[in-house]
Amino acid sequence: MESVPCITLNTGYKMPTIGLGTALANDDEMRMALNFALDCGYRSIDTAYLYLNEEAIGDALQDWFKKGKLKREDVFVTSKLPAIGNRPVDCERFLTMSLKKLKLDYLDFDINIRSIPGLDNPNATLNEMVTAEGPSLMDDETDIETLWKCLEEEFPVAVNQVELHPYLQQHKLAEFCQNLGIAVMGFGPFASPYTPEEMNVLTDPVILKIAKKYGKKPAQIILRSQIQRNIIVIPKSSNPERIKSNFDILNFTLSDGDMEALKKLDKGEKGRVYHFKHAFTGCEKHKEYPFHIEF
Ligand SMILES: NC(=O)c1ccc[n+]([C@@H]2O[C@H](COP(=O)([O-])OP(=O)(O)OC[C@H]3O[C@@H](n4cnc5c(N)ncnc54)[C@H](OP(=O)(O)O)[C@@H]3O)[C@@H](O)[C@H]2O)c1
Repeated sequence: MESVPCITLNTGYKMPTIGLGTALANDDEMRMALNFALDCGYRSIDTAYLYLNEEAIGDALQDWFKKGKLKREDVFVTSKLPAIGNRPVDCERFLTMSLKKLKLDYLDFDINIRSIPGLDNPNATLNEMVTAEGPSLMDDETDIETLWKCLEEEFPVAVNQVELHPYLQQHKLAEFCQNLGIAVMGFGPFASPYTPEEMNVLTDPVILKIAKKYGKKPAQIILRSQIQRNIIVIPKSSNPERIKSNFDILNFTLSDGDMEALKKLDKGEKGRVYHFKHAFTGCEKHKEYPFHIEF
């Protein structure tokens, strides 16, 4: 089995360049997908408190640890603080809850999923806490600098996870971060599952043509082009065949000409599929809303 190349973070820790995305995978899918992915050689998992599958991930990992097939230090586990865990006073509480569900005593990486802090509402469901009642639940008191200072007491900012795919390539942001020693991790490499058909990167004619040339799947071309830019990829799949092929991207190299052809597919902001102002209603009115500025 081919071992995954890693990027050395500014913390000194090594992070695999390919990981398994887990959004929208329910418990049964998650256990199956993770078992299969670990068998394929994946050694990095991207989850979040809000994905509601941390317990299933914890179960699958414990099984591998107990059978002696994997040691804790062999796997890189990422989780994310929800908006309601974003205030300095809440960070530790939510981190502890994620660790308990994952049955781990540390995370390799914890993401601040949305820079705007939210307020806990004991009467709201988990879904309402981040969507329907968004505006009334935003915390106007905590500024982002205070939050970052709290997080940086433990570690420097090591990785920036952003939407990144052929129609939103984030070249300027990626170069900016990489020049500062901050690694870039792309989410939504296929811009799915929310993508309207006309924005489906997997059926783009340029990508299909390059895929044919290399005898690879369109998804493999997309992922390969990203790791050639030193972007960490976390494709999500619950399908064994796709989990395997998404990982099988280390045995070929895209030529400079093909990388250039792929670069021309970038639509910039018009290619963005995930709009935080839709997922977190009203957040664009918050004084700290980050998407008004360039990048
Ligand atoms: N920080 C954030 O705010 C944020 C936001 C979104 C996502 N993320 C993370 O990034 C991960 C990836 O993003 P995502 O899940 O939104 O989107 P994605 O990985 O671009 O796409 C996942 C979708 O593509 C399908 N798929 C996977 N491999 C495929 C292949 N080889 N060919 C065709 N279809 C394929 C999957 O279906 P099957 O499962 O049926 O294969 C699923 O419907 C997430 O799972 C999550 O861990 C982070």
